[in-house]
Amino acid sequence: MPLPVPEGPEPDRWVRPLLVAARWAQDAAARRRARREPSGPSIWGPIHLGTAEDGRPIRVPLIYRNMLVAGEPGAGKSVGLNNIVAHAALSVDCRLWLFDGKIVELGLWRSCAERFVANDLSDAISALLDLQSEMDSRYAVLDDQRRRKVAPTDGVAPIVVVLDELAYFSATVGTKREQEAFSVLVRDLVARGRAAGVIVIAATQRPSADIIPTSLRDLFGYKWAFRCTTDTSSDIVLGHGWASRGYTAASVAPEAKGIGFLLAEGGVPRRIKAAHLSDEQVYALADRAARRRLAAGIAHGQDLEPVRWSV
Ligand SMILES: Nc1ncnc2c1ncn2[C@@H]1O[C@H](COP(=O)(O)OP(=O)(O)OP(=O)(O)O)[C@@H](O)[C@H]1O
Ligand SMILES: [Mg+2]
Repeated sequence: MPLPVPEGPEPDRWVRPLLVAARWAQDAAARRRARREPSGPSIWGPIHLGTAEDGRPIRVPLIYRNMLVAGEPGAGKSVGLNNIVAHAALSVDCRLWLFDGKIVELGLWRSCAERFVANDLSDAISALLDLQSEMDSRYAVLDDQRRRKVAPTDGVAPIVVVLDELAYFSATVGTKREQEAFSVLVRDLVARGRAAGVIVIAATQRPSADIIPTSLRDLFGYKWAFRCTTDTSSDIVLGHGWASRGYTAASVAPEAKGIGFLLAEGGVPRRIKAAHLSDEQVYALADRAARRRLAAGIAHGQDLEPVRWSV
C-alpha cells in the first residue's frame, strides 16, 4: 500500500540544505554585526583594571563597593582611574560624576559626565550635597519597599563618583570649614552609598593619615596602592601590617609606572600592572561613550532628576 503523500509541494532535496546554509550564513553575519556593535559593558559587571604578575587579567566588580587609589605623584593613579571611568562611561546603565581639581585628567571624559566638577570647592560641596540627597531619597524608597539595596531590575542607575586628587578639595583649597564639609560629605557617601548604588572611587597623591584617616580607609572595599615612598604610607593605604608581611607599595621601582598593589576586602594584596589607555584611545572611547549616552537618552551636565523606580 503506497504511503500517504503530505499536502503541499515537497521542498526539493537539493534546495533544503541550501536554505539551511543560507540561514547559517545569515546568523553568522548577525553575530559578526553584534561583535562590531556590542551592547557594551555594564556597571553591574566586572571592570578590567590590568594584569596580574602571572599575566592573568584583573577584573573586579565595583557595584556595592568603593575604591581608594593612592600613590606618589606620577605613579599611575590617573591611568588606573581611566580604566574605571572608561568602563563606567561606556556602561549606559550608570551615571558618571567626575571631580578633578587638575581638570585635565578626567576632563577628557567631561562629555560623558552628568556632572563635572573642576577646581571649585564650593561646586564640589554642592555636587556632593546633591548626591547625598539622591542617596537619601533612594534609601527612603528602599525602606518603603522593605528592601536593602538597589537591583538591576529597578531601573535606577548606579552613580559612579570619581574623585581624582581628594587632597586638593579636602586639604588644599578653600577654608578649613569648607574642607571639613567636603570631607564629611565624602565620608558619608563612602559609608552609606553602596546599597543605594553610589560607587565612590577616590584617588590621592598623599597617603598620609590626615588625608586618609584609618576610619575612612577602612570604609573602602578596594584599596589600590601605587608606588609609595615609605612602608608607612603604603600601610596607610592598604592597612596596618601589610608592609611587615611583605606587601608594600614602597617596593615598586620609581620607573615601574602603573605597578601597584590591589587589595580586595578580606583578601591579600596582589601586585598588578594597570592597563594603559593612550590619550588617543581615551579620546576615541570618550567620543564613543558620549554618542552611546546620547543615543540612550542619558542627560549630561545637569543635576539629578527625581528618583524614578520601575518597580
Ligand atoms: N599602567 C601604565 N602603563 C604605562 N605607563 C603608565 C602607566 N601608568 C602610568 N604610566 C605613565 O606614567 C605617567 C604618569 O601617570 P599618571 O598621570 O597616571 O600618574 P598619577 O599617579 O596620576 O600622578 P599625579 O599624582 O601627578 O596625578 C603617565 O603619563 C604614563 O606615561
Ligand atoms: Mg593623576
